[in-house]
Amino acid sequence: MNRSKRTIVANWKMHGSLSMARDFLEVIAQQSFAAGVEIVICPPATLLYEMAHQITGLDIRVGAQDCHAEKEGAFTGDISAAMLKDAGCGYVIVGHSERRSQHGETSALVKKKAQAALDAGLVPIICIGETLAERQAGRAKEIVGQQLRESLPEGDFILAYEPVWAIGSGLAATSDDISDMHTYIVSQTHGAHAVLYGGSVKAANAREILTIAGVSGVLVGGASLKAEEFCKIIAAA
Ligand code: PGA
Repeated sequence: MNRSKRTIVANWKMHGSLSMARDFLEVIAQQSFAAGVEIVICPPATLLYEMAHQITGLDIRVGAQDCHAEKEGAFTGDISAAMLKDAGCGYVIVGHSERRSQHGETSALVKKKAQAALDAGLVPIICIGETLAERQAGRAKEIVGQQLRESLPEGDFILAYEPVWAIGSGLAATSDDISDMHTYIVSQTHGAHAVLYGGSVKAANAREILTIAGVSGVLVGGASLKAEEFCKIIAAA
């Protein structure tokens, strides 16, 4: 994995429509971004195929927001990593805190999903991060350390540190907190993987966050839904 690259990931969560995706790509296509910036858009599953085919010729990749750990089978409503690959994806987010908390996903399951993604030829973007209660109890590194030990497969993947309390709150972690945790994650993973920061990243704070040592890029939720705002975040890289 090329560590000098900056990676900017858009996580649209359960937002978006065909017309929004088309308008979004139209705006992005008009911009010219610096070389060495890897742009990944993760729309809902219904838009993956369409977007993967609309980005042809653009320096943009498409990723999914989750996958099943098994290759195929009787799993109503689920989508396998191979199906995502077939639809044109290059990446998949696994272990997002919303999946961990709302769908009861454990680190052991996240590891299986990440392995399934690798086996299908996708790059997993593996999310980790502590809750506010865990941070206030002084357990942030203990929790993140445990997630690292239990969630990571063998192979090439991207990590995303997303403190749960910073997601969707409008209040990103401070530069000191980000620097401290990223230094810890980089040391625990021997610098082998890109480590993105996520949690209330927007155009106004992206540049500062991207200059913090150990931060290889950002995972952007809410601010990735508006093409102009997202373009500013890419430009900050
Ligand atoms: P946010 O979400 O940028 O809206 O805080 C980030 C994420 O959940 O990935």
